[in-house]
Amino acid sequence: RRATRVHHLAQWKAEGHKWPMLTAYDFSTARIFDEAEIPVLLVGDSAANVVYGYDTTIPITNDELIPLVRAVVRGAPHALVVADLPFGTYEASPQQALENAVRFFKEGGAHAVKIEGGERVAPQIAALTAAGIPVMGHVGFTPQSVNGLGGFRVQGRGDAADQLIADAIAVQEAGAFSVVMEMVPADIAGQITRKLTIPTVGIGAGNETDAQVLVWQDMAGYTHGKTAKFVKRYAAVGDELREAARAYATEVATAAFPGPEHSY
Ligand code: KIV
Ligand code: NA
Repeated sequence: RRATRVHHLAQWKAEGHKWPMLTAYDFSTARIFDEAEIPVLLVGDSAANVVYGYDTTIPITNDELIPLVRAVVRGAPHALVVADLPFGTYEASPQQALENAVRFFKEGGAHAVKIEGGERVAPQIAALTAAGIPVMGHVGFTPQSVNGLGGFRVQGRGDAADQLIADAIAVQEAGAFSVVMEMVPADIAGQITRKLTIPTVGIGAGNETDAQVLVWQDMAGYTHGKTAKFVKRYAAVGDELREAARAYATEVATAAFPGPEHSY
């Protein structure tokens, strides 16, 4: 099997081949997704929520995220590994974006980075691309801006569609190789997907995008509490793990574990 690189994604768009992306945050899970032939893995700043237990993605730092990138790269020899740049590490200037993206490349071994925003981050996308760092854009609902956007709300409805389209185009023109669209009406996402030459990756963006992404814990039923409408659960890993932990606890209490076959 060949490793997936950014030019393959462009090729897949030309061929009309839809591809899946999942998040990953550790070696063991990355290895499983690589075996499942998931071609693109995102070390999302959603690690803030699902790994570190923060309420939003805002607090996560480079020092918290970069070690997870390194682990995923080690676990997934075939996947294209994309890393999110944390909030506060790229907004100030192209220079700031470059310095921090370089850390994700040199220390993390990432193959690409993702930054949130449309027109407002076009100079950053251009600077990273010029330095040889492939960039995935992210428009629509951008979780790092949750305070400015007034909560988890669908973006690009009605009159806001024009700005969303302008943002997606700005990201492409700045040199991004792909763009995530989060929580936007399916018809607008489809329209943008047909307009852009780079692949679009949807999350809560309907089924007309070129690719889809989900946080793996949401996809696998390993998340606490209520999930967003756009999540589909393909397994109940949380229930399975809880049952396993209970069964283990019971067997320890009753001395059923370890048995002779597990003893020296
Ligand atoms: O951090 C993340 O997991 C993401 C995706 C859901 C797009 O940005
Ligand atoms: Na993210």
